[in-house]
Amino acid sequence: MKFFIDTANLDQIKEANDMGILDGVTTNPSLMAKEGIAGNKNVWKHYEKIANIVDGDVSAEVIATDFKGMVNEGEILAAIAPNIVVKIPMIKEGVKALSYFTEQGIRTNCTLVFSAAQALLAAKAGATYVSPFIGRVDDTNWDGLQLIEEIVEIYANYGFLTEVLAASIRTSLHIKQCALIGADVVTCPLKTIEGLFKHPLTDIGLEKFLADYKKVNG
Ligand code: G3P
Repeated sequence: MKFFIDTANLDQIKEANDMGILDGVTTNPSLMAKEGIAGNKNVWKHYEKIANIVDGDVSAEVIATDFKGMVNEGEILAAIAPNIVVKIPMIKEGVKALSYFTEQGIRTNCTLVFSAAQALLAAKAGATYVSPFIGRVDDTNWDGLQLIEEIVEIYANYGFLTEVLAASIRTSLHIKQCALIGADVVTCPLKTIEGLFKHPLTDIGLEKFLADYKKVNG
C-alpha cells in the first residue's frame, strides 16, 4: 500500500519523505490556502517545490469547473513536473476532462468521490487514481470504510486499473483498515502517519532496555 501525505506544507512533506516511507503527496485548494499560497503563479511555483521534494506522484487540483477551463489548467499543471497528477472533481464536466486527459496520456486523480457509482464512472473515464473521502462520509453517519470496500470489489470485478486512493483519513486505525481492505493508497496528515508508531509497550520496553543497559554500563 502506498502512503501519500495530504498537505501543502513543505516542512511536513520533507519530514515524511525523510522517513523513507513516502510515496507521494495530495493537495487541494483548502490545503494550499492553509499555507497562505495565493495567486495561480505562486500556486504553480509551490507545486514545483513539492514535486522536487518527492519522487512519487503529486496531485495538483484544478480550480475551473468547466471542461475547457479544466483542460487548460490541467495541461499547465501537468507540464510543471513529470510527477504531477491532475486532480479533477467528480462532476459531469470533470468526467469529460478525465476522459480527455486519459486520451492525452496525462495522469489524473478524480476527487470528491462519495459513492461507488461515482468511482465506477471515474474508472470508466480512465482516472489513474480515485479519491473516496472516508472521514467526510463518516461525518454524515454513513460508513466511509464500506465505501472503500465496495470500490475495491467493483474494480476487482472488472479489472479496472484505477488505483483506490483513500482520502479524508482521520485516524491511524483508518490506515490499518484500508490496508486490510486492500486500498492501493492512503493519503493522510503527518500526525496520522505518526500515530502508526505509537504503542505504549514499545515505550515501556525501550525504557526497560535502556535502564538495564545503564545498570551494568553505568
Ligand atoms: O484528500 C482529501 C482530504 O484533504 C480531505 O480531508 O479531513 O478535509 O475531510 P478532510
